[in-house]
Amino acid sequence: MRRRPARIERLPQQYFGGLLAWVTEHALEGEPLVDLGRGNPETGPPAHVVDALDEAAGLETAHGYAPFRSLPKLRAALAERYRSRYGVQLDPDAEVAVVPGTKTPIVELSLALADEGETIVLPDPYYPDYPSGPALAGARTGMVPLDPTAGWSPDFAAAPRDDVAAVYLNYPSNPCAAAVPDGAFEAAVEYAHETGAAVVHDFAYGDLVFDGRKPTSFLATPGAREVGVEMFSMSKSYGMAGWRVGFVVGNAEIVERINLLNDHCRVGIFRPIQEACIAALTGPQNSVAERRDTYQRRRDRVIEVLGPQTCEGTFYIWMKLPEGLTAGDLLTEHRVAVAPGEGFGPSGKGWIRLSLAVSDETLELGLERLARAFS
Ligand SMILES: Cc1ncc(COP(=O)(O)O)c(C=O)c1O
Repeated sequence: MRRRPARIERLPQQYFGGLLAWVTEHALEGEPLVDLGRGNPETGPPAHVVDALDEAAGLETAHGYAPFRSLPKLRAALAERYRSRYGVQLDPDAEVAVVPGTKTPIVELSLALADEGETIVLPDPYYPDYPSGPALAGARTGMVPLDPTAGWSPDFAAAPRDDVAAVYLNYPSNPCAAAVPDGAFEAAVEYAHETGAAVVHDFAYGDLVFDGRKPTSFLATPGAREVGVEMFSMSKSYGMAGWRVGFVVGNAEIVERINLLNDHCRVGIFRPIQEACIAALTGPQNSVAERRDTYQRRRDRVIEVLGPQTCEGTFYIWMKLPEGLTAGDLLTEHRVAVAPGEGFGPSGKGWIRLSLAVSDETLELGLERLARAFS
């Protein structure tokens, strides 16, 4: 076989794959590990969602190819959610694309927006899957630093200005656990006008904001739809990570590019899964609030044990390690797995990300060990 094409060679190490392998390797030896490294919701969707899947799977019509661009009623259900919960009007036909989880469009949006040699700007710190898209697209990556002294606000004055094809943002932020700071989305729209960049907003944790905050969609910002799109995921709001359904919504031209890519690469999503997503989006929403309250309660418990931490949403704690301690020490000596900060961008060195998406018992045990490690 010929050598690997350059675009495959350019792919960075898959951070979460590497993390899993590292933790698994160390799990085999010594005292049982407590794993606070992974962001995998620990409880699934409510029963009515699973029932909807069951029922739809029993129909003779369930098993053929689903429509390329999904069931219109699923796009309508998502548009209705945006209207009623986030105050955003969407045209379900032109402004909503259904995708197999948002991890996919994280990469595809880079392919849809950048030519080779152009720049894609990522927040620093970033979600570790973001550099993969620019790598496949042959684009450069630039950074917009997030300022920890300003609620992890993007400092656009320090961002690149030339040949910027897109800027990615993510609030509530993984890993920083910050809700969107005042003015951040407005600044992104301004940056887009100034540079011609498109804005890609990752809203995967949109519903998981604490202390009475309201979810804030990027698309509710004046001018946002003209310059960008938002990704909404079923994974974190409903505990449906394994179901692989998400959405790209907003700017119709960008939505069309994602649909075009998917027309070539996929054929819809299994119809019963779409029916179950409709049940999740349109049925009772108390499970979303319960999930949010559970993570807020665990956040409070972390603060009780480890001291003050900024955590306004998501199910993570992003914290600086005490001098001289590494994530490797925590794993091998203290038997707690955490996500090492290095994978979250240049500013992540010396930081770790803890996950609250574990049982209360696991969290307690992990906190006990961390408190001992930090003492
Ligand atoms: C910030 C962020 N975006 C996107 C995703 C991907 O979510 P999914 O592909 O399940 O929709 C995750 C998953 O952990 C995430 O943390």
